[in-house]
Amino acid sequence: MRTSDELRAGFRAFFESKDHGFRPSASLIPRADDRSTLLTTAGMQPLMPYFLGRDAPPAPLLTTVQKCFRTPDIDEVGLDGSHLTFFEMLGNFSFGQYFKEGAIELAWEFVFEHLQLDPERFWVSIFAGDAELGLGEDEVAHRHWVEMGQPAERIVFLPRAENFWSVGGPGPCGPDTEMYYDWGAEHGCGEPDCKPSCTRCERFLEFWNLVFMEFELHVDGKLTPLPKQNVDTGMGVERTAAILQDVMSVYETDVYQAIMRWIAGESGVAYGDSPEATKAHRILADHGRGMTFLAADGVAPSNEGRGYVMRRIIRRAVQQGSRVGLEPPYLAQLADVVIEQMKGGYVELEEHRDDIHRILAAEEERFGKTLERGLRLFEEIAGKGGDIPGEEAFRLHDTYASHSS
Ligand code: SER
Repeated sequence: MRTSDELRAGFRAFFESKDHGFRPSASLIPRADDRSTLLTTAGMQPLMPYFLGRDAPPAPLLTTVQKCFRTPDIDEVGLDGSHLTFFEMLGNFSFGQYFKEGAIELAWEFVFEHLQLDPERFWVSIFAGDAELGLGEDEVAHRHWVEMGQPAERIVFLPRAENFWSVGGPGPCGPDTEMYYDWGAEHGCGEPDCKPSCTRCERFLEFWNLVFMEFELHVDGKLTPLPKQNVDTGMGVERTAAILQDVMSVYETDVYQAIMRWIAGESGVAYGDSPEATKAHRILADHGRGMTFLAADGVAPSNEGRGYVMRRIIRRAVQQGSRVGLEPPYLAQLADVVIEQMKGGYVELEEHRDDIHRILAAEEERFGKTLERGLRLFEEIAGKGGDIPGEEAFRLHDTYASHSS
């Protein structure tokens, strides 16, 4: 298993062979009764009513590939090889069937027999407990990993911030155990406490999270048990592809090759030509995928909520496009590259190709006009001679520039 297509298909086939029913991705727009996030951020999110015991799941075991969009990191995208807004998450879910032991056994088999990862590079983290939540360290998960054969020296206990998961606050939640790939000491910071979750370096890459969903977190911070003990797992397609393809940056995986080739072909500037070109390629690639999928799900640019997220990524992408010399309009073409690559798994892309083109082209044109007006205003003020006063500079930036660069 090496390519991202093989990974998606292999994950699905493995869990189907273990009696999980496959469900295609739900929309990036969460269900109307889900107030936790603006956009779908994890594979478990469309399944929340099953975890909470409010609805009966269509099958006791499920596996999905879910398109996800995470907004907090928009401004980080482009600066390194791992931050993304749009990504795909593979998951297996148990509603009151297997719990910690079963989830760890399945993960072990998939990681070593199918992904064939080098055991020396495999680390796991486990919930260390939390006094406020009234929970001790997860000894059960620890025992199962050790029983499977994981050496104790490559198991670390981490606090709630790392190893306790819920989607955007209140809701179904639980301690988790995360799997990491070690790129090697040569990529580490060398500090004695360097280990999974190290923030100084990128030596350890988290690629799969097993959440033991047995609690509901309430607004007052209290936990109550869920009707059943459940499992929610999430494996990042892009990160796991990076591991399988032995590249430290997700942008160098096959997932991004078509879009990177298109950007290079149109602009004449290749990924890696300069730090500026690398940043522009990453932003165009990530945001290009994001805007295409958002438009397919009916998100149009506006000044609030999901529409504002859409506006920000489109404007941020167009700004970067101009840095590598892309001549607008080109967003519809960029979307076509994404549609061609992803339509096999996401029929909505082909179905909504015209809507996607229309939504992206309209915002591209609108932003072009905004920039022109900004430039004229700038020239007027500058023409009056001297410096641009702080207040004017602020107005220009706030009105005419994107909210991030
Ligand atoms: N919900 C968990 C996550 O997003 C595992 O799927 O990491």
